[in-house]
Amino acid sequence: MNQPIINSKDEIPDEHYRKMVLTLMDRQAGREIATAEVFGQCVIFAPTLDDKVRITRYQNEELKHFKLVAKLMAELGVDIDHYVADRKRAGARFTGNESDVTVTDWIDATLFNFMIDRAATYQLTEYTRGSYAPLAKANVSILRDEERHKDFGEHCLIEMCRDPEMRAEIQRRFHKWFIGAMRIFGRPGTPGNRYCLEVGLKQRDSGEIAAAYLDSIRPVMARCGLKFPRREDLPIELAPELNLEVPAHHDAQRVA
Ligand SMILES: [Fe+2]
Ligand SMILES: [Fe+2]
Repeated sequence: MNQPIINSKDEIPDEHYRKMVLTLMDRQAGREIATAEVFGQCVIFAPTLDDKVRITRYQNEELKHFKLVAKLMAELGVDIDHYVADRKRAGARFTGNESDVTVTDWIDATLFNFMIDRAATYQLTEYTRGSYAPLAKANVSILRDEERHKDFGEHCLIEMCRDPEMRAEIQRRFHKWFIGAMRIFGRPGTPGNRYCLEVGLKQRDSGEIAAAYLDSIRPVMARCGLKFPRREDLPIELAPELNLEVPAHHDAQRVA
């Protein structure tokens, strides 16, 4: 990598870079706080006291993540109190529509954690390698929490899918959460993506990051006996390199 590392806001080379760093931080901060809000819905449906305690902890961690990014945004002049209070903006924080992330029971809560929180984690893994050092550093510590969130979502999904009826219901709802997760990565090959690659704010295009995310959930899908939606049934543009196949898994067949 030959792009220079920008160690602080004072080293930001030009307005274009500054705007792009702010855009990336806005997207991340928006998702951190929105995830905390959705975990608030998940607490209602968490089946055990331990689960409620755990989800409440995750919610706190998301707010801590938000604070870390918000501090960097404030350094660049963003009014954070206004940012938090702006509900119109809150609706757009994941997919542009708050109802896309409405949680109605523990199945939704699990799919939110397994799909959306995990997709957001993949996206910010990329930022840990980015050229804006303050954001890269913040994300190294954020990722430590996110690893645990990810493991819990996966564990809950595997447990639920042991029940064939539950698995069928999860498969039915999977489409909605899959679209939400894919929207987190954004469209591949956009001018914004190209600029980020040029200045080292990202090392990979959105399509490649989304492909890595799908690779990470594919073995879990196989184990659960779940399938990805078909490309032609999706209302969004997916990068051509995305593989939507799930290999057969003998454990999944046995519980079927
Ligand atoms: Fe987070
Ligand atoms: Fe998380």
